[in-house]
Amino acid sequence: MPPEIEISTDAPTDVRCDALVVAATASDEGPKLGQIGGAVDAALDGALSKFIENNFKGKVGEFQIVPTHGKIPAGAVAVVGVGSEPKAAEVRRAAGTTARRLAQYATIASTLHVGIDDGARAAAEGFLLGGYRFTKYRSDPEQSRTERVAFLDGASQDEVKRAEIAARATSLARDFVNEPAVTLTPTEFARRAEEMASGSGLEAEILDEAELERRGFGGILGVARGSDEPPRLITLRYAPSGAKGKVALVGKGITFDSGGLSLKDAKSMETMKTDMSGGAAVVAAMSALSDLDVKVEVNAYVPATENMPGGRAIKPGDTIKHYGGRFSEVLNTDAEGRLVLADALALASEQKPDAIIDVATLTGAMMVALGKKVTGYFSSDDALATEIEAAARVSGERFWRMPILDDYRSDIDSEIADVKNIGTRWGGAIYAALFLRDFVDRAIPWAHLDIAGPARADSDMDEVTRGGTGVATRTLIAWLEGRTA
Ligand code: BES
Ligand code: MN
Ligand code: ZN
Repeated sequence: MPPEIEISTDAPTDVRCDALVVAATASDEGPKLGQIGGAVDAALDGALSKFIENNFKGKVGEFQIVPTHGKIPAGAVAVVGVGSEPKAAEVRRAAGTTARRLAQYATIASTLHVGIDDGARAAAEGFLLGGYRFTKYRSDPEQSRTERVAFLDGASQDEVKRAEIAARATSLARDFVNEPAVTLTPTEFARRAEEMASGSGLEAEILDEAELERRGFGGILGVARGSDEPPRLITLRYAPSGAKGKVALVGKGITFDSGGLSLKDAKSMETMKTDMSGGAAVVAAMSALSDLDVKVEVNAYVPATENMPGGRAIKPGDTIKHYGGRFSEVLNTDAEGRLVLADALALASEQKPDAIIDVATLTGAMMVALGKKVTGYFSSDDALATEIEAAARVSGERFWRMPILDDYRSDIDSEIADVKNIGTRWGGAIYAALFLRDFVDRAIPWAHLDIAGPARADSDMDEVTRGGTGVATRTLIAWLEGRTA
Protein backbone atom coordinates (compact mmCIF):
# COMPACT_ATOMS: atom_id res chain seq x y z
CA MET A 1 0.00 0.00 0.00
CA PRO A 2 1.32 3.48 -0.83
CA PRO A 3 1.74 5.75 2.21
CA GLU A 4 -0.93 8.21 3.26
CA ILE A 5 0.08 11.82 2.58
CA GLU A 6 -1.16 14.27 5.18
CA ILE A 7 -0.87 17.97 5.68
CA SER A 8 0.32 19.04 9.10
CA THR A 9 0.81 22.36 10.83
CA ASP A 10 3.39 21.02 13.29
CA ALA A 11 6.70 22.88 13.42
CA PRO A 12 9.68 20.85 12.20
CA THR A 13 11.32 21.11 15.60
CA ASP A 14 8.15 19.87 17.36
CA VAL A 15 6.86 17.19 15.00
CA ARG A 16 6.71 13.64 16.29
CA CYS A 17 7.84 11.20 13.58
CA ASP A 18 10.45 8.58 12.81
CA ALA A 19 12.26 10.73 10.27
CA LEU A 20 12.11 14.42 9.41
CA VAL A 21 13.17 15.41 5.89
CA VAL A 22 14.90 18.75 5.27
CA ALA A 23 16.41 20.07 2.04
CA ALA A 24 19.96 21.22 1.39
CA THR A 25 20.80 23.22 -1.71
CA ALA A 26 24.13 23.20 -3.52
CA SER A 27 26.23 26.33 -3.86
CA ASP A 28 29.82 27.32 -4.66
CA GLU A 29 30.48 27.61 -0.94
CA GLY A 30 29.18 24.11 -0.33
CA PRO A 31 25.81 22.76 0.77
CA LYS A 32 23.33 25.14 2.36
CA LEU A 33 20.50 24.39 4.74
CA GLY A 34 17.47 26.59 4.22
CA GLN A 35 15.49 28.36 6.91
CA ILE A 36 13.87 25.14 8.10
CA GLY A 37 17.10 23.15 8.01
CA GLY A 38 18.80 26.00 9.87
CA ALA A 39 16.21 25.94 12.64
CA VAL A 40 16.48 22.17 12.97
CA ASP A 41 20.27 22.46 12.93
CA ALA A 42 20.14 24.97 15.79
CA ALA A 43 17.86 22.69 17.81
CA LEU A 44 20.40 19.90 17.27
CA ASP A 45 23.31 22.11 18.33
CA GLY A 46 24.78 22.20 14.84
CA ALA A 47 24.67 18.45 14.22
CA LEU A 48 23.24 18.83 10.68
CA SER A 49 25.84 21.28 9.44
CA LYS A 50 28.53 19.13 11.01
CA PHE A 51 27.28 16.02 9.20
CA ILE A 52 27.10 17.67 5.79
CA GLU A 53 30.37 19.54 6.12
CA ASN A 54 32.27 16.71 4.47
CA ASN A 55 31.33 14.60 1.48
CA PHE A 56 28.03 16.38 0.89
CA LYS A 57 27.47 18.77 -1.98
CA GLY A 58 23.69 19.26 -2.06
CA LYS A 59 23.29 17.56 -5.42
CA VAL A 60 19.80 16.31 -6.25
CA GLY A 61 19.03 13.12 -4.34
CA GLU A 62 22.15 13.21 -2.16
CA PHE A 63 21.18 11.80 1.18
CA GLN A 64 22.40 11.88 4.74
CA ILE A 65 20.70 10.54 7.89
CA VAL A 66 21.49 12.31 11.14
CA PRO A 67 20.42 11.02 14.59
CA THR A 68 18.66 13.49 16.87
CA HIS A 69 19.52 11.99 20.29
CA GLY A 70 16.20 13.14 21.74
CA LYS A 71 16.92 16.84 21.16
CA ILE A 72 13.78 17.12 19.00
CA PRO A 73 10.81 14.71 18.85
CA ALA A 74 11.77 13.43 15.37
CA GLY A 75 13.78 10.22 15.68
CA ALA A 76 16.15 11.14 12.87
CA VAL A 77 16.69 13.91 10.34
CA ALA A 78 17.24 13.12 6.68
CA VAL A 79 19.11 15.86 4.85
CA VAL A 80 18.35 15.58 1.14
CA GLY A 81 20.10 17.48 -1.65
CA VAL A 82 17.88 19.39 -4.07
CA GLY A 83 20.56 21.02 -6.27
CA SER A 84 21.48 24.67 -6.74
CA GLU A 85 18.19 25.98 -8.09
CA PRO A 86 15.48 23.67 -6.83
CA LYS A 87 12.20 23.68 -8.71
CA ALA A 88 9.35 21.16 -8.79
CA ALA A 89 11.35 18.67 -10.88
CA GLU A 90 14.25 18.59 -8.39
CA VAL A 91 11.85 18.23 -5.47
CA ARG A 92 10.12 15.32 -7.23
CA ARG A 93 13.46 13.64 -7.86
CA ALA A 94 14.71 14.17 -4.31
CA ALA A 95 11.42 12.89 -2.84
CA GLY A 96 11.68 9.78 -5.03
CA THR A 97 15.07 8.88 -3.61
CA THR A 98 13.88 9.74 -0.11
CA ALA A 99 10.94 7.35 -0.36
CA ARG A 100 13.33 4.44 -0.98
CA ARG A 101 15.98 5.50 1.52
CA LEU A 102 13.42 5.93 4.29
CA ALA A 103 11.37 2.82 3.46
CA GLN A 104 12.06 1.31 6.89
CA TYR A 105 10.56 4.34 8.71
CA ALA A 106 6.83 4.17 9.44
CA THR A 107 6.17 7.88 9.89
CA ILE A 108 7.92 10.61 7.93
CA ALA A 109 7.56 14.39 8.08
CA SER A 110 8.74 16.25 5.00
CA THR A 111 9.53 19.86 4.21
CA LEU A 112 10.86 19.26 0.69
CA HIS A 113 7.95 21.15 -0.92
CA VAL A 114 8.39 24.34 1.08
CA GLY A 115 8.94 27.49 -0.96
CA ILE A 116 8.69 25.68 -4.32
CA ASP A 117 5.98 26.41 -6.91
CA ASP A 118 3.81 23.29 -7.21
CA GLY A 119 6.16 21.77 -4.65
CA ALA A 120 3.49 19.76 -2.84
CA ARG A 121 2.36 18.04 -6.03
CA ALA A 122 5.97 17.29 -6.97
CA ALA A 123 6.95 16.04 -3.53
CA ALA A 124 3.85 13.84 -3.25
CA GLU A 125 4.44 12.37 -6.71
CA GLY A 126 8.06 11.76 -5.79
CA PHE A 127 7.23 9.94 -2.55
CA LEU A 128 4.54 7.81 -4.17
CA LEU A 129 6.41 6.98 -7.39
CA GLY A 130 9.84 6.49 -5.82
CA GLY A 131 8.33 4.04 -3.34
CA TYR A 132 6.65 1.91 -6.05
CA ARG A 133 7.55 -1.77 -6.04
CA PHE A 134 6.31 -4.69 -8.15
CA THR A 135 6.36 -7.58 -5.69
CA LYS A 136 3.73 -9.90 -7.15
CA TYR A 137 6.29 -12.59 -8.00
CA ARG A 138 8.45 -12.38 -4.86
CA SER A 139 7.79 -15.05 -2.26
CA ASP A 140 9.33 -12.86 0.44
CA PRO A 141 8.80 -9.27 -0.69
CA GLU A 142 10.62 -6.43 1.00
CA GLN A 143 7.70 -4.13 1.67
CA SER A 144 8.08 -0.46 2.45
CA ARG A 145 7.13 0.17 6.08
CA THR A 146 6.22 3.79 5.45
CA GLU A 147 2.61 4.40 6.47
CA ARG A 148 2.37 8.17 6.61
CA VAL A 149 4.19 11.17 5.17
CA ALA A 150 3.19 14.49 6.74
CA PHE A 151 3.89 17.63 4.72
CA LEU A 152 4.73 20.46 7.10
CA ASP A 153 4.55 24.22 6.77
CA GLY A 154 1.54 24.56 4.51
CA ALA A 155 0.84 22.41 1.50
CA SER A 156 -2.11 22.57 -0.85
CA GLN A 157 -4.56 19.73 -0.27
CA ASP A 158 -5.67 19.96 -3.90
CA GLU A 159 -2.10 19.56 -5.16
CA VAL A 160 -1.59 16.50 -2.98
CA LYS A 161 -4.87 14.98 -4.16
CA ARG A 162 -3.96 15.50 -7.81
CA ALA A 163 -0.53 14.01 -7.18
CA GLU A 164 -2.10 10.93 -5.63
CA ILE A 165 -4.36 10.44 -8.65
CA ALA A 166 -1.49 10.89 -11.12
CA ALA A 167 0.80 8.59 -9.13
CA ARG A 168 -1.88 5.93 -8.85
CA ALA A 169 -2.33 6.04 -12.63
CA THR A 170 1.42 5.80 -13.20
CA SER A 171 1.64 2.83 -10.85
CA LEU A 172 -1.14 1.15 -12.82
CA ALA A 173 0.86 1.65 -16.02
CA ARG A 174 3.97 0.22 -14.31
CA ASP A 175 1.97 -2.81 -13.14
CA PHE A 176 0.78 -3.42 -16.72
CA VAL A 177 4.33 -3.18 -18.09
CA ASN A 178 5.94 -5.28 -15.35
CA GLU A 179 3.41 -8.08 -15.74
CA PRO A 180 5.00 -10.88 -17.85
CA ALA A 181 3.62 -11.48 -21.33
CA VAL A 182 2.49 -14.98 -20.39
CA THR A 183 -0.08 -13.36 -18.11
CA LEU A 184 -0.66 -10.01 -19.76
CA THR A 185 -1.90 -11.38 -23.08
CA PRO A 186 -3.95 -9.10 -25.34
CA THR A 187 -7.09 -10.71 -23.88
CA GLU A 188 -5.96 -10.08 -20.30
CA PHE A 189 -4.82 -6.52 -21.07
CA ALA A 190 -8.27 -5.83 -22.50
CA ARG A 191 -9.97 -7.45 -19.51
CA ARG A 192 -7.99 -5.29 -17.07
CA ALA A 193 -8.68 -2.16 -19.09
CA GLU A 194 -12.38 -2.97 -19.03
CA GLU A 195 -12.26 -3.62 -15.29
CA MET A 196 -10.51 -0.30 -14.72
CA ALA A 197 -13.06 1.48 -16.93
CA SER A 198 -16.06 0.22 -14.97
CA GLY A 199 -14.60 1.72 -11.79
CA SER A 200 -13.46 5.00 -13.35
CA GLY A 201 -16.48 6.42 -15.11
CA LEU A 202 -15.43 5.30 -18.59
CA GLU A 203 -17.15 3.38 -21.34
CA ALA A 204 -15.15 0.46 -22.70
CA GLU A 205 -15.62 -1.46 -25.90
CA ILE A 206 -13.31 -4.34 -26.71
CA LEU A 207 -13.19 -5.48 -30.33
CA ASP A 208 -12.37 -9.18 -30.61
CA GLU A 209 -10.86 -11.01 -33.56
CA ALA A 210 -14.17 -11.62 -35.35
CA GLU A 211 -15.11 -7.96 -35.02
CA LEU A 212 -11.65 -6.84 -36.21
CA GLU A 213 -12.09 -9.15 -39.21
CA ARG A 214 -15.55 -7.84 -39.97
CA ARG A 215 -14.45 -4.21 -39.85
CA GLY A 216 -11.19 -4.66 -41.75
CA PHE A 217 -8.42 -4.05 -39.21
CA GLY A 218 -5.76 -5.62 -41.43
CA GLY A 219 -2.78 -4.16 -39.57
CA ILE A 220 -3.73 -5.62 -36.19
CA LEU A 221 -4.79 -8.95 -37.74
CA GLY A 222 -1.66 -9.12 -39.89
CA VAL A 223 0.67 -8.72 -36.92
CA ALA A 224 -1.42 -11.17 -34.88
CA ARG A 225 -1.23 -13.93 -37.53
CA GLY A 226 1.95 -15.48 -36.15
CA SER A 227 0.61 -15.77 -32.60
CA ASP A 228 -1.72 -18.24 -30.91
CA GLU A 229 -3.06 -15.39 -28.78
CA PRO A 230 -6.02 -13.60 -30.36
CA PRO A 231 -5.69 -9.82 -30.76
CA ARG A 232 -7.94 -7.17 -29.25
CA LEU A 233 -8.63 -3.53 -29.94
CA ILE A 234 -9.27 -1.79 -26.63
CA THR A 235 -11.38 1.35 -26.91
CA LEU A 236 -12.19 3.58 -23.95
CA ARG A 237 -14.33 6.67 -23.84
CA TYR A 238 -14.46 9.46 -21.30
CA ALA A 239 -17.35 11.80 -22.01
CA PRO A 240 -17.95 14.29 -19.18
CA SER A 241 -21.05 16.43 -19.30
CA GLY A 242 -20.33 19.88 -20.67
CA ALA A 243 -17.12 18.70 -22.36
CA LYS A 244 -15.05 21.40 -24.04
CA GLY A 245 -13.84 19.70 -27.20
CA LYS A 246 -12.61 16.17 -27.74
CA VAL A 247 -9.27 14.53 -28.31
CA ALA A 248 -8.00 11.01 -29.04
CA LEU A 249 -5.20 8.94 -27.53
CA VAL A 250 -3.66 5.92 -29.25
CA GLY A 251 -1.23 3.51 -27.58
CA LYS A 252 0.89 0.67 -28.97
CA GLY A 253 -0.15 -2.53 -27.21
CA ILE A 254 2.28 -5.21 -28.41
CA THR A 255 2.20 -7.50 -25.36
CA PHE A 256 5.29 -9.30 -26.63
CA ASP A 257 7.50 -8.42 -29.59
CA SER A 258 9.63 -11.34 -30.77
CA GLY A 259 10.13 -9.53 -34.08
CA GLY A 260 8.00 -12.10 -35.92
CA LEU A 261 9.75 -13.83 -38.83
CA SER A 262 12.27 -10.95 -38.83
CA LEU A 263 13.15 -12.47 -35.46
CA LYS A 264 15.03 -10.52 -32.81
CA ASP A 265 18.10 -12.02 -31.12
CA ALA A 266 17.75 -13.41 -27.60
CA LYS A 267 19.20 -10.35 -25.88
CA SER A 268 16.92 -7.89 -27.66
CA MET A 269 13.91 -10.02 -26.81
CA GLU A 270 14.52 -10.09 -23.04
CA THR A 271 12.63 -6.88 -22.37
CA MET A 272 10.00 -7.08 -25.10
CA LYS A 273 7.09 -7.53 -22.71
CA THR A 274 7.66 -3.76 -22.40
CA ASP A 275 6.31 -3.23 -25.92
CA MET A 276 2.82 -2.39 -24.68
CA SER A 277 4.05 0.59 -22.61
CA GLY A 278 2.36 3.13 -24.89
CA GLY A 279 -0.94 1.31 -24.47
CA ALA A 280 -0.34 1.09 -20.72
CA ALA A 281 0.24 4.85 -20.50
CA VAL A 282 -2.93 5.56 -22.45
CA VAL A 283 -5.13 3.18 -20.41
CA ALA A 284 -3.57 4.51 -17.18
CA ALA A 285 -4.07 8.16 -18.14
CA MET A 286 -7.73 7.39 -18.88
CA SER A 287 -8.10 5.97 -15.36
CA ALA A 288 -7.39 9.41 -13.84
CA LEU A 289 -9.73 11.65 -15.85
CA SER A 290 -12.94 11.42 -13.90
CA ASP A 291 -11.16 11.76 -10.53
CA LEU A 292 -9.42 14.87 -11.86
CA ASP A 293 -12.69 16.18 -13.27
CA VAL A 294 -11.10 16.76 -16.67
CA LYS A 295 -13.55 18.59 -18.92
CA VAL A 296 -12.56 17.35 -22.35
CA GLU A 297 -13.96 14.27 -24.09
CA VAL A 298 -11.26 11.64 -24.65
CA ASN A 299 -11.42 8.58 -26.87
CA ALA A 300 -8.62 6.05 -26.44
CA TYR A 301 -7.57 3.23 -28.79
CA VAL A 302 -5.09 0.51 -27.89
CA PRO A 303 -4.44 -2.18 -30.51
CA ALA A 304 -3.20 -5.19 -28.53
CA THR A 305 -1.49 -8.25 -30.00
CA GLU A 306 1.63 -10.34 -29.76
CA ASN A 307 4.20 -10.27 -32.59
CA MET A 308 5.25 -13.91 -33.03
CA PRO A 309 6.80 -16.06 -35.79
CA GLY A 310 4.19 -18.85 -35.97
CA GLY A 311 3.45 -20.88 -39.07
CA ARG A 312 0.82 -18.47 -40.31
CA ALA A 313 2.91 -15.40 -39.51
CA ILE A 314 2.99 -12.44 -41.85
CA LYS A 315 6.02 -12.66 -44.17
CA PRO A 316 8.42 -10.07 -45.52
CA GLY A 317 6.94 -8.96 -48.83
CA ASP A 318 3.33 -9.40 -47.73
CA THR A 319 0.84 -6.58 -48.06
CA ILE A 320 -1.73 -5.44 -45.54
CA LYS A 321 -5.02 -3.66 -46.11
CA HIS A 322 -5.36 -1.34 -43.13
CA TYR A 323 -8.52 -0.06 -41.51
CA GLY A 324 -9.74 2.73 -43.78
CA GLY A 325 -8.44 1.07 -46.95
CA ARG A 326 -4.79 2.06 -47.34
CA PHE A 327 -2.22 -0.64 -48.15
CA SER A 328 1.23 -1.19 -46.69
CA GLU A 329 4.00 -3.54 -47.73
CA VAL A 330 5.70 -5.35 -44.86
CA LEU A 331 9.41 -5.76 -45.54
CA ASN A 332 10.43 -6.22 -41.92
CA THR A 333 7.98 -7.92 -39.58
CA ASP A 334 9.80 -6.38 -36.60
CA ALA A 335 8.50 -2.95 -37.62
CA GLU A 336 5.10 -4.11 -36.36
CA GLY A 337 4.14 -1.24 -34.07
CA ARG A 338 3.43 1.13 -36.94
CA LEU A 339 1.24 -1.54 -38.59
CA VAL A 340 -1.14 -1.82 -35.64
CA LEU A 341 -1.02 1.92 -34.92
CA ALA A 342 -1.94 2.68 -38.54
CA ASP A 343 -5.31 0.96 -38.06
CA ALA A 344 -5.92 2.73 -34.76
CA LEU A 345 -4.91 6.17 -36.08
CA ALA A 346 -7.24 5.76 -39.05
CA LEU A 347 -10.06 4.83 -36.67
CA ALA A 348 -9.27 7.71 -34.29
CA SER A 349 -9.30 10.15 -37.21
CA GLU A 350 -12.87 9.18 -38.14
CA GLN A 351 -14.22 10.88 -35.03
CA LYS A 352 -12.61 14.19 -36.13
CA PRO A 353 -11.06 14.93 -32.72
CA ASP A 354 -9.39 18.30 -32.07
CA ALA A 355 -6.05 16.50 -31.63
CA ILE A 356 -4.59 12.99 -31.64
CA ILE A 357 -1.60 11.86 -29.58
CA ASP A 358 -0.14 8.39 -29.99
CA VAL A 359 2.35 6.79 -27.61
CA ALA A 360 4.60 3.89 -28.58
CA THR A 361 7.82 2.03 -27.87
CA LEU A 362 8.31 2.34 -31.59
CA THR A 363 11.98 2.38 -32.58
CA GLY A 364 15.38 1.37 -31.30
CA ALA A 365 16.57 4.30 -33.42
CA MET A 366 14.95 6.75 -31.01
CA MET A 367 16.86 5.16 -28.17
CA VAL A 368 20.08 5.57 -30.15
CA ALA A 369 19.22 9.24 -30.73
CA LEU A 370 18.12 10.33 -27.26
CA GLY A 371 19.15 7.58 -24.84
CA LYS A 372 17.11 5.98 -22.09
CA LYS A 373 15.70 9.00 -20.31
CA VAL A 374 14.12 11.18 -22.97
CA THR A 375 10.97 10.77 -25.03
CA GLY A 376 11.37 11.91 -28.63
CA TYR A 377 8.16 13.33 -30.00
CA PHE A 378 6.96 14.43 -33.41
CA SER A 379 4.17 16.89 -33.98
CA SER A 380 2.42 17.95 -37.16
CA ASP A 381 1.32 21.10 -35.37
CA ASP A 382 3.39 23.72 -33.50
CA ALA A 383 0.60 24.67 -31.10
CA LEU A 384 0.18 21.04 -30.08
CA ALA A 385 3.96 20.78 -29.64
CA THR A 386 3.85 23.78 -27.31
CA GLU A 387 1.09 22.10 -25.29
CA ILE A 388 3.17 18.93 -24.99
CA GLU A 389 6.19 20.91 -23.81
CA ALA A 390 4.04 22.64 -21.20
CA ALA A 391 2.59 19.31 -20.03
CA ALA A 392 6.08 17.81 -19.76
CA ARG A 393 7.15 20.74 -17.59
CA VAL A 394 4.29 19.95 -15.24
CA SER A 395 5.04 16.21 -15.16
CA GLY A 396 8.82 16.51 -14.93
CA GLU A 397 9.22 13.98 -17.76
CA ARG A 398 11.78 14.84 -20.41
CA PHE A 399 10.65 15.36 -23.99
CA TRP A 400 12.54 16.46 -27.07
CA ARG A 401 10.97 17.39 -30.40
CA MET A 402 12.06 15.53 -33.52
CA PRO A 403 11.51 16.61 -37.13
CA ILE A 404 8.99 15.13 -39.56
CA LEU A 405 10.99 15.53 -42.78
CA ASP A 406 8.84 15.53 -45.90
CA ASP A 407 11.77 14.87 -48.20
CA TYR A 408 12.39 11.55 -46.41
CA ARG A 409 8.91 10.31 -47.31
CA SER A 410 10.01 8.94 -50.70
CA ASP A 411 12.28 6.45 -48.89
CA ILE A 412 9.16 4.59 -47.71
CA ASP A 413 7.55 4.50 -51.15
CA SER A 414 6.64 0.89 -51.89
CA GLU A 415 7.10 -0.96 -55.16
CA ILE A 416 3.56 -2.29 -54.98
CA ALA A 417 1.62 -0.66 -52.11
CA ASP A 418 0.89 2.83 -50.76
CA VAL A 419 3.79 2.68 -48.31
CA LYS A 420 6.40 0.21 -47.03
CA ASN A 421 7.12 -0.30 -43.36
CA ILE A 422 10.86 0.45 -43.31
CA GLY A 423 13.07 3.18 -44.74
CA THR A 424 16.83 3.36 -45.17
CA ARG A 425 19.30 2.49 -42.45
CA TRP A 426 19.52 5.97 -40.85
CA GLY A 427 16.87 8.01 -39.10
CA GLY A 428 14.61 5.08 -38.30
CA ALA A 429 12.43 7.00 -35.84
CA ILE A 430 11.61 9.56 -38.53
CA TYR A 431 10.53 6.89 -41.03
CA ALA A 432 8.26 5.41 -38.39
CA ALA A 433 6.67 8.84 -37.82
CA LEU A 434 6.28 9.40 -41.58
CA PHE A 435 4.61 6.01 -41.91
CA LEU A 436 2.13 6.85 -39.15
CA ARG A 437 1.37 10.25 -40.64
CA ASP A 438 -0.05 8.58 -43.76
CA PHE A 439 -2.89 7.19 -41.63
CA VAL A 440 -3.84 10.36 -39.77
CA ASP A 441 -6.34 12.83 -41.19
CA ARG A 442 -4.04 15.72 -42.15
CA ALA A 443 -6.57 18.28 -40.91
CA ILE A 444 -6.17 17.01 -37.32
CA PRO A 445 -3.22 18.19 -35.20
CA TRP A 446 -1.30 15.02 -34.35
CA ALA A 447 1.67 14.12 -32.19
CA HIS A 448 3.58 10.87 -31.88
CA LEU A 449 5.54 10.10 -28.69
CA ASP A 450 8.30 7.49 -29.16
CA ILE A 451 9.01 6.18 -25.64
CA ALA A 452 11.27 3.25 -26.65
CA GLY A 453 14.03 4.48 -24.30
CA PRO A 454 12.30 5.74 -21.15
CA ALA A 455 9.57 3.06 -21.03
CA ARG A 456 11.91 0.86 -19.00
CA ALA A 457 14.61 1.71 -16.46
CA ASP A 458 17.58 -0.51 -15.63
CA SER A 459 17.86 0.83 -12.08
CA ASP A 460 16.05 2.99 -9.56
CA MET A 461 16.70 6.68 -10.14
CA ASP A 462 14.85 9.59 -8.54
CA GLU A 463 11.07 9.06 -8.90
CA VAL A 464 11.65 6.38 -11.54
CA THR A 465 11.88 2.76 -10.45
CA ARG A 466 13.55 -0.20 -12.11
CA GLY A 467 11.44 -1.98 -14.72
CA GLY A 468 8.40 -0.43 -16.36
CA THR A 469 8.35 3.32 -15.68
CA GLY A 470 4.84 4.30 -16.75
CA VAL A 471 6.43 7.13 -18.72
CA ALA A 472 4.06 9.49 -20.57
CA THR A 473 1.14 8.66 -18.25
CA ARG A 474 1.58 11.87 -16.24
CA THR A 475 2.42 14.01 -19.27
CA LEU A 476 -0.78 12.85 -20.97
CA ILE A 477 -2.71 13.63 -17.80
CA ALA A 478 -1.13 17.08 -17.52
CA TRP A 479 -1.92 17.72 -21.19
CA LEU A 480 -5.57 16.82 -20.67
CA GLU A 481 -5.78 18.86 -17.45
CA GLY A 482 -4.25 21.76 -19.38
CA ARG A 483 -6.85 21.57 -22.14
CA THR A 484 -9.53 21.94 -19.49
CA ALA A 485 -8.02 24.98 -17.81
N1 BES B 1 9.49 -2.59 -30.17
C1 BES B 1 10.53 -2.31 -31.09
C2 BES B 1 11.29 -1.03 -30.74
C3 BES B 1 12.11 -1.09 -29.48
C4 BES B 1 13.39 -1.56 -29.51
C5 BES B 1 11.60 -0.64 -28.29
C6 BES B 1 14.14 -1.62 -28.35
C7 BES B 1 12.34 -0.69 -27.12
C8 BES B 1 13.62 -1.18 -27.16
C9 BES B 1 9.97 -2.16 -32.49
O1 BES B 1 8.87 -2.94 -32.76
C10 BES B 1 11.05 -2.57 -33.41
O2 BES B 1 11.43 -3.70 -33.38
N2 BES B 1 11.51 -1.64 -34.23
C11 BES B 1 12.54 -1.92 -35.16
C12 BES B 1 12.19 -1.25 -36.47
C13 BES B 1 13.09 -1.62 -37.60
C14 BES B 1 12.90 -3.07 -37.97
C15 BES B 1 12.77 -0.73 -38.78
C16 BES B 1 13.85 -1.36 -34.61
O3 BES B 1 13.82 -0.27 -34.01
O4 BES B 1 14.86 -2.03 -34.72
MN1 MN C 1 9.38 -4.89 -33.38
ZN1 ZN D 1 7.69 -3.45 -31.18
